[in-house]
Formats: sequence, C-alpha cells, structure tokens
Amino acid sequence: MSAAGSGLSAVYPGSFDPVTNGHLDVIARAAETFDRLVVAVGRNSAKAALFTVEERLELLRGVCAPWPHVSVDAFDGMLVTFARERGARVLIKGLRAVSDFEYEFQMALANRHLAPDVETLFMMTSAEHLYLSSSIVKEIARLGGDVSALVPGAVVRRLREKLRP
Ligand code: PNS
Repeated sequence: MSAAGSGLSAVYPGSFDPVTNGHLDVIARAAETFDRLVVAVGRNSAKAALFTVEERLELLRGVCAPWPHVSVDAFDGMLVTFARERGARVLIKGLRAVSDFEYEFQMALANRHLAPDVETLFMMTSAEHLYLSSSIVKEIARLGGDVSALVPGAVVRRLREKLRP
C-alpha cells in the first residue's frame, strides 16, 4: 500500500532518546508510503532523557538526510495540534510486541477523541527489531556492551561520548 503521490503527509512522533535501527525501519517504511513525513520529537515526555532534545534532533536529521521529503522537528503540547499545524492527517506509530499495544491503543483513542480528522496508523516493526528500544540500547551502552548493530553509527559515537567515565 502506498499513499505516495496523493499528497498525504504523516507525523511520526516519539522520544527518540536516542533513535534506533527500529525507529529507522519505521521511518524508511513511512517515507516510502507518504509524500511528506515529519519525524517529531516530543519535548514534554515524562521520561528522564539521556540526550537533550537538540542532540536528538541532530542525530535524527543526520539519519533522515537521505530522504528529502522527511523533515525532523520538535513539538510542545498536544501531538494532534502539531500534526494539524503541519497539515498532516496521519500519525505513524511503530508496534513491536503485544506489550506495546495497550498503551498505544489508549493514546490512539485519546488522539481520536481530540481530533477525529487525524488517523493513527500502526506499522509493524521488522522481526529483528522486535526487542529493540531506546531504553534497552541505553542499558547495554551503560554496561559497556556493543550497540553497533542496534543503532546508527553516529548514535554509537554519541553514546560513547555521553557515557564515557
Ligand atoms: O517514544 P515515546 O516515548 O512513546 O513517545 C511519546 C510521545 C512523544 C509520542 C507522546 O508522549 C506524545 O504523544 N506526547 C504528546 C502529548 C499528547 O498529545 N497527549 C495527548 C494524547 S495521549
């Protein structure tokens, strides 16, 4: 299925602390499907972050550079407001295991309540990324493990710099 050519824009929101190969897989799929994609870093996530929003934007801009129709930005406040401001009627969410489902379902219904004109689309991750999350990557990196197969090269380097004793 492709909406490319129909002028449809989508927003792919997240914390991206940091961007992983799992996120990149979803970005690649969404970039193939939509004419414009905005990868959006939520500024007000409840989670304590390792990377600043500016660092996360910089890393994302680097990995999204091959796609001219993919832009990267940060947003405050409600996601649906940001999506409407960008002329996007679709929110992309990545789904890994069943454990993601309840939280994502709740968010999708809340967003539909707030903005019935904005649709949430779930994209299944590739099998090799099923277990992958930013939290797991940070945990492995903190313990000195090798994350080079899990995140883009620029992220490996920034993790090393951040976690250097
Ligand atoms: O990668 P994450 O941590 O699951 O991303 C969370 C994010 C940024 C997508 C989420 O916190 C979010 O949508 N924030 C915006 C707040 C909002 O719109 N809330 C109302 C609907 S639940």
